Amino acid sequence: MSASRGGFNSSIGFIMAAAGSAVGLGNIWGFPTQTASNGGAAFVLVYLVLAFFLAYPAFMAELLIGRYGQANAVTSMQKVARTSWQKRFGFAVGFGGVLCAALILSFYAIIAGWMMSYAVEPLAKLASFTDEAKWLITHTLPRNILFTTLFIGLTILIIRRGVEQGIEKWSKRLMPMLIILLILLIAYVFTLNGAQAGFAAYLNPDISRVFDADLLISALGQAFFSLSLGTSVMIIYGSYIAKKENLVSLGAQVTLIDVSIAFLAGLLIIPAMYVAQAQGVAIFAEDGSLISGSSLVFTVLPALFLNMGAVGLFVAFGFFVLMTIAALTSSISMLEGPVSFVVERHNIARKKATTYIGVAILLLSIIIVINLEWMLDFIAILSTQYGQPLIAMFCCIFVGWIWHRNDILTEIKQGNSEVESSLFWKIWPWYVKFVCPTAIALVFIHSL
Ligand code: PFF
Repeated sequence: MSASRGGFNSSIGFIMAAAGSAVGLGNIWGFPTQTASNGGAAFVLVYLVLAFFLAYPAFMAELLIGRYGQANAVTSMQKVARTSWQKRFGFAVGFGGVLCAALILSFYAIIAGWMMSYAVEPLAKLASFTDEAKWLITHTLPRNILFTTLFIGLTILIIRRGVEQGIEKWSKRLMPMLIILLILLIAYVFTLNGAQAGFAAYLNPDISRVFDADLLISALGQAFFSLSLGTSVMIIYGSYIAKKENLVSLGAQVTLIDVSIAFLAGLLIIPAMYVAQAQGVAIFAEDGSLISGSSLVFTVLPALFLNMGAVGLFVAFGFFVLMTIAALTSSISMLEGPVSFVVERHNIARKKATTYIGVAILLLSIIIVINLEWMLDFIAILSTQYGQPLIAMFCCIFVGWIWHRNDILTEIKQGNSEVESSLFWKIWPWYVKFVCPTAIALVFIHSL
């Protein structure tokens, strides 16, 4: 790995950074909400199967392209290509991923900004700034602009510092904090009245729902979003991994962490919902369906925290800090996609590129904030329901149909000399060629 490009100094650095990208609002809020709306434990079961058997193989395809290319997503894709049409195809897929990452960041930062303002609110209350505390949890344009700007500002500051001093260093600090906070909060919620019912709803699957088409599709979409696939992010993170590292095992470890944290988040949120219900907070609408995700996090949980008395202020602070940390380790990966592209393809200094791209994304976020009613959903659906599955599918097609099998083997053997005789190599090439593109195409067709 060249000194000027930077790269992860250790396998743990990569694992923390890639897991940091994967673990975010999608896991800690999206996964529990989907679980609650899709039959509880049945969704958990399907998600676990799909994450390991479909998302992990696609994730490996992206990591491999990156480590082979040792460059940003566009250049790496083009290095795999041979003919000129393949190179153009590679450009389109790589650049599509870069754009998709930027689009995701533009709406993700707004929601992360809400998490930040909800984290500051208990502090304002503790300091007896009652009016300010109220302002912090009221949806207004100035508040949204302020916290979106703060969140993107933090993301820019980390990415300006590069791979080792920025992404690796901060992911290594933030990820363990996140896991510790999560476990402490779970322990606390379990002592409360009502948690047992939530625990049962989360862990007792209704097997009859497992083959429900909507459930399968939601679980697959959730697994792809959660592993940050189809965004150029895992290609660029793959390019920062040293050739001596065993990619098959690193990828599996990151998938395991991502899935475990989603599982832990479910263990916190689902019982917390039932605790809230026991305290008189409405979590199910009249028709028995779950109150929508966003209102759950911003109304039900604060109500739960309020009921805890003084200690609730600390719990609320802990929870929203946890959400902010999870969002930050994801947002830095989203910004790295476009930044690495501009730095390497257009020879612009990293600090300058980070600031320009970060500010451009912030401007888009502000436009979204001003037109929140329709634009937030529009950009989220465009990037996550259309962009991500399509680009991830093309990455699998690229590896399965364009990249020569022997060249893939040569790349994957570096850091894993035994791979040729492993179960992974017997199954994965076939999987990535046929099963992954077909499964993603099915999700995509459904989302249309
Ligand atoms: N994986 C992140 C989450 O679960 O919240 C979201 C994400 C990060 C999506 C990075 C896309 C991306 F490029």
